[in-house]
Amino acid sequence: MTQHRCASPAQPGDTDARAPAIELLGLSKSFPGGRAPALDGIDLVVPRGGIFGILGPNGAGKTTLMSILGGLILPSAGSVRIAGHDVLTESRHIRHILGLVPQEPAIYPTLTARENLDFFGRMQGLSGAYLDSRVQACLELAEMTGEADQRVEQFSGGYKRRLNMVIGLMHEPEILILDEPTVAIDPHSRALIHHRLRELNAAGITILISTHYMEEAELLCSDVAIIDHGRLIVQGSVPELLARRRDEAIELQFFSEPDGALAQALQAIPGVRQVELAGCRMRISSDRPELAIAPIMQRVQADGPTLRSLVYGRASLEQVFLSLTGDRGELR
Ligand SMILES: Nc1ncnc2c1ncn2[C@@H]1O[C@H](COP(=O)(O)OP(=O)(O)O)[C@@H](O)[C@H]1O
Ligand SMILES: [Mg+2]
Repeated sequence: MTQHRCASPAQPGDTDARAPAIELLGLSKSFPGGRAPALDGIDLVVPRGGIFGILGPNGAGKTTLMSILGGLILPSAGSVRIAGHDVLTESRHIRHILGLVPQEPAIYPTLTARENLDFFGRMQGLSGAYLDSRVQACLELAEMTGEADQRVEQFSGGYKRRLNMVIGLMHEPEILILDEPTVAIDPHSRALIHHRLRELNAAGITILISTHYMEEAELLCSDVAIIDHGRLIVQGSVPELLARRRDEAIELQFFSEPDGALAQALQAIPGVRQVELAGCRMRISSDRPELAIAPIMQRVQADGPTLRSLVYGRASLEQVFLSLTGDRGELR
């Protein structure tokens, strides 16, 4: 649809289809007075076409990274290329290609949703019928056509986040960067944002999303890079990373507290290494969980309180992160 753009049209050569979406080489950033670098020599290639997650706990350096990609702050060292263009010297090209959704909603509270979209569309150089059609399309994407003419200061956090997201989509970028777009919002808004990101990705848009929710990355992303203390810890596809760690524990949750006799009986089952009881929860570590699980369940059904849930064999990115950081990481 770029042929309908009314101002600042994309130039031939704006985008090199063969170049990766994003390439970082030795990217570092130190803030004045900062004790340690916020980013410390990050090398990363984000291929085109996927949903790529930047994962890390609070303070890891996600916003610093996103802000450099968006041209909001300068790196201290290293290089950044977006669709083959250097962010420092070729920002004019990148402006058309890239959409940035910052962590803090960058919207005008006293303007309506429609006025905000109109304003940010004009900032991108859009005008005329194309601008109007993009405002309407973005209101629909955010599911706020009914609230289009309300002042944004009346919106809930979820609505602000949804508006913030579609502002980044006004100029139909081919690469969309979102910094923690679902922190502290209602479940419907979160689900809508996830749904829209999948739709955009299916339409060919490359998405880079930062999050500290490991489950969100597992659900949404094809590939992830985990960063901590400004360093890249690991990068790979989600299945690849999950295969690095398999949880050998069986976790049971009961409706009422089981007694110590049940724990002792389970401890005697071949393959069971340790049984830990904490209130209504029981964690059973096992060397041979595939063998031990059937006798455990028989015993629980015969002698235990009613079972509420059973979790077994589920590795998570959270465990991968904790094992790679020596279990010292705080995720939230
Ligand atoms: N403007 C700034 N001035 C000084 N230190 C900063 C600034 N922005 C971020 N930092 C520091 O850089 C580190 C990374 O922060 P940030 O990129 O915001 O992490 P994240 O987004 O992963 O939570 C933190 O230690 C933070 O305190
Ligand atoms: Mg942040």
